[in-house]
Amino acid sequence: AQNAKESLYIVSQFAASFFVKQLWETDEGRGIGLSYFKERGFREDILKKFEVGYSPDVWDAMTQSAISSGHKLEFLEQTGLSIKNDNGKIYDRFRGRVMFPIHNFTGRVIGFGGRTLKTDKNVPKYVNSPESEIYHKSNVLYGLFHAKKAIRDLDNCYLAEGYADVLSVHQAGIENVVASSGTSLTVEQIKLIGRFTQNVTILFDGDAAGIKASLRGLDMILEEGLNVKIVSFPDGHDPDSYMHHVGAGAFKTYIEDNRKDFILYKANVLLKEAGTDPIKRAGIIRDIVESIAKIPDQIKASVFIRECSSLLEIEERVLLSELNKIRSAKS
Ligand code: UTP
Ligand code: MN
Ligand code: MN
Ligand code: MN
Ligand code: MN
Repeated sequence: AQNAKESLYIVSQFAASFFVKQLWETDEGRGIGLSYFKERGFREDILKKFEVGYSPDVWDAMTQSAISSGHKLEFLEQTGLSIKNDNGKIYDRFRGRVMFPIHNFTGRVIGFGGRTLKTDKNVPKYVNSPESEIYHKSNVLYGLFHAKKAIRDLDNCYLAEGYADVLSVHQAGIENVVASSGTSLTVEQIKLIGRFTQNVTILFDGDAAGIKASLRGLDMILEEGLNVKIVSFPDGHDPDSYMHHVGAGAFKTYIEDNRKDFILYKANVLLKEAGTDPIKRAGIIRDIVESIAKIPDQIKASVFIRECSSLLEIEERVLLSELNKIRSAKS
């Protein structure tokens, strides 16, 4: 099994190099793929650092190139890079897309995300590698290999949603950033961050889906005993679009100055939703205390109860009795 796994790493690295070569050295790659990245404002050094590439818009270019270099179809199929259809015809999973290779934290390529260049709503925006012997989505954080040193040094990990976000945040000079990419945040991914730091700052998209995901994410992070802060972006921006919108310097300042702790963030989001409805507003208090109840460390939890009390102007003992109710219901 060890050898079989090694073979999957090898074909994945072959494909990554193939896509890189296509991007930089072919007319189609430069004309379509590289221009696309340039139009989005990505710098060449960032594109090279993350080894992004381009998959040609033909049926089986990558598969044919791999086979003629001596790679076995069996392994290409096991990584999902090559697919056999019902008629036995072999084709490439990724065609006419810009390619983001996914590395494990030792730097080996284990999968890909491929973004379409079409604006057609019927085409999936991203196609991702399927699960394989070497790629277990729920255990992987995109960008961790390039971020892990900075995460340790700075003792904080920025957590974004997408591939482009990781590249753009790097481009702004912030290297301690990863993304859950291709899956919603998992407990395994949080534990993986926990090996490098206890401090997470969520940088999710400013759209409805991103806000919802950030509320779910912060509860999961609290439950794992890590500290969590949130930076939100205006006007539905995500970190990538906001960085290109305001520029690298202003972006860096923005995320450093706009970290909110989770209570303030959650209160803001929920108060906006509730409007003036008093029953809904009461529900918010319970909702926030529920997040605090997830914190395993009792001393930390009591600090947040105090903060919540002054923020929402509710007596601390009321919040504490609510906290105890939730805790005893859980145990
Ligand atoms: P988004 O829709 O926010 O995409 O999905 P994005 O990262 O901002 O992409 P750009 O900027 O338009 O290029 C966030 C992440 O969810 C996954 C991808 O990992 C994406 O980066 N996703 C999204 C998919 O896996 N498939 C999809 O069809 C869409
Ligand atoms: Mn590599
Ligand atoms: Mn989004
Ligand atoms: Mn996005
Ligand atoms: Mn985006």
